[in-house]
Amino acid sequence: MIKKELIEQIKSEADIVQIIGEYLPLKPAGKNYRALCPFHLEKTPSFYVSPEKQIYHCFGCGASGSVITFIMEYEKISFPDAVKKLASKLGIKIETESIPYENRHLYEACEFAAQYYTQCLNKSPTAVNYLKERKIADEIIEQFRLGYAPRSNALYNYAKKENFSIEALVEAGLIVKKNSEYYDWFYNRIVFPIFSPAGRVVGFSARTIEENVDPKYINTAESAIFKKREILYGFFQAKNSLYKTVPILVEGNFDVLTLVQNNFKSAIAPLGTALSSNHALLLRRYSNKIKIAFDGDQAGINAAIRAIETLLSVNIEPTIVMLPQDYDPDRFVKTYGKEKFQELLDKSYDYIDFIRYIMSSKEALTELLRLTALIEDPLFQEESINKISQIFNITKETLLNKIRTNKTPIKKPDNSQSPWKIQSILRLERQILSLALSDPQYLQIIRNELPEVLVNNENIKEILQVLYNNLANGILAYNIIDQINNPELKNLFAELVIENQPKLSLDEFKLKFYEYKIYKLQEQISKAEANRNNQLAITLAKELFETKKKVNEIRSKNYDK
Ligand code: GTP
Ligand code: MN
Repeated sequence: MIKKELIEQIKSEADIVQIIGEYLPLKPAGKNYRALCPFHLEKTPSFYVSPEKQIYHCFGCGASGSVITFIMEYEKISFPDAVKKLASKLGIKIETESIPYENRHLYEACEFAAQYYTQCLNKSPTAVNYLKERKIADEIIEQFRLGYAPRSNALYNYAKKENFSIEALVEAGLIVKKNSEYYDWFYNRIVFPIFSPAGRVVGFSARTIEENVDPKYINTAESAIFKKREILYGFFQAKNSLYKTVPILVEGNFDVLTLVQNNFKSAIAPLGTALSSNHALLLRRYSNKIKIAFDGDQAGINAAIRAIETLLSVNIEPTIVMLPQDYDPDRFVKTYGKEKFQELLDKSYDYIDFIRYIMSSKEALTELLRLTALIEDPLFQEESINKISQIFNITKETLLNKIRTNKTPIKKPDNSQSPWKIQSILRLERQILSLALSDPQYLQIIRNELPEVLVNNENIKEILQVLYNNLANGILAYNIIDQINNPELKNLFAELVIENQPKLSLDEFKLKFYEYKIYKLQEQISKAEANRNNQLAITLAKELFETKKKVNEIRSKNYDK
């Protein structure tokens, strides 16, 4: 367990602007820094980082948190991993062994199996031979940690011998339980560990070693750590080259291996499923272009069209590599060599030419209108319309009209929920809260002088409660924000922290606070009177009188000066 104090020390030593600046180009904006939000698609920056408060907040999608949550979300790693990563950036040593983390048993089960299967590969001449025949180099076998699942219940027996948790292996999908008997999920297959973006084994894919076995590939089932819609085969290995090289999207695991081996290091593949918008968003962080190199058959073409849809709707410009019928990238490179494949990459088709190539002219126009309507970026859409207009000799206006009228519903990325709508909160209330966040002195005043009955907004009530609980330790926004789980509250909190507030003297703050309190008192007095709750009305009226007196005192004191 990492001690809370250590986490707080690490957070306090980190400079959020410097750390996030390593990931995003931050530009100064007033007292904050700003960039395009990495967590949703946008054209104008609404992602803010506050050096003063050490938190970030996106006014577009509501993402917010401390430097640690940023690393978690951006790198898609767990909280303890993010702490470790941050600590190592800061040169702070923490004992890694002692960190419990969520789903640790699953990670350990996958790692246990990955190690076992690699051992088995080296002991199986058949498996080694299979990979040799497919010309997979030793470095690639090592880098991708390829393995072999032998016959029989090898993994189960090995786990028993090693005293490793069978239940964990079951939960990870590597062993199945049937009629109270256990069976290995894989046997006589080449095993491909699937890595998380952070490089941990989270699942497996396995290919039969004998031809004509159906199914050719099987995967482990999804688990708490293995979500097929979020992971791409080869992504971890490709990650560093994605900044420099356009991602090459292929269909098969062997395509990834062969391309990487031939120095096309940005090759990645979905896990036998269609490309999801989560996949696309992940790639969008690295590149706004993608080359699709699917198999040259009808299935490959259909899959390419679906991938184009998904990519266009997150504003990625796809180009399509046209492989000869019956070829996939693996076979093409092995037959014609990497130079020829590079040529294909260089002359890959944009989506417009691709559609024209595979469809008749009339079909193509309809399909192109449908696809072009998915593009959100006005510039990219206009470029496309211009091109279509020239090719089909139709005016841009006509095309635009057609696009608008037959507008198909745009597929939104799965995780770009619409921005949290903040309930209308009195401007003043926000201002006061925002000020309270900048100085515990102010918060103390609110705590002492604001009766709870006056706060009728549940969110504000909860935020105040969190703040009061932290008062003893100082109002450190970057610690508090990680204690708030409700996304709506977190959003509100982050906004209050980031909002620019003028510096006020204590008296100036009090005047604002009393102005607010008087308003709230009057509101509650009317309510109490309407409900014929005379007792409450009288109490509140006394309070109102006292408050007004205080205001007068402050005013006259300042007048005397
Ligand atoms: P080979 O070159 O024949 O070894 O295969 P490949 O790696 O090139 O894969 P292929 O292009 O045939 O298929 C693309 C991807 O679809 C594979 O990597 C698998 O993820 C998935 N896939 C293929 N066949 C099956 C199957 O029978 N069942 C499942 N679930 N997935 C499959
Ligand atoms: Mn293949």
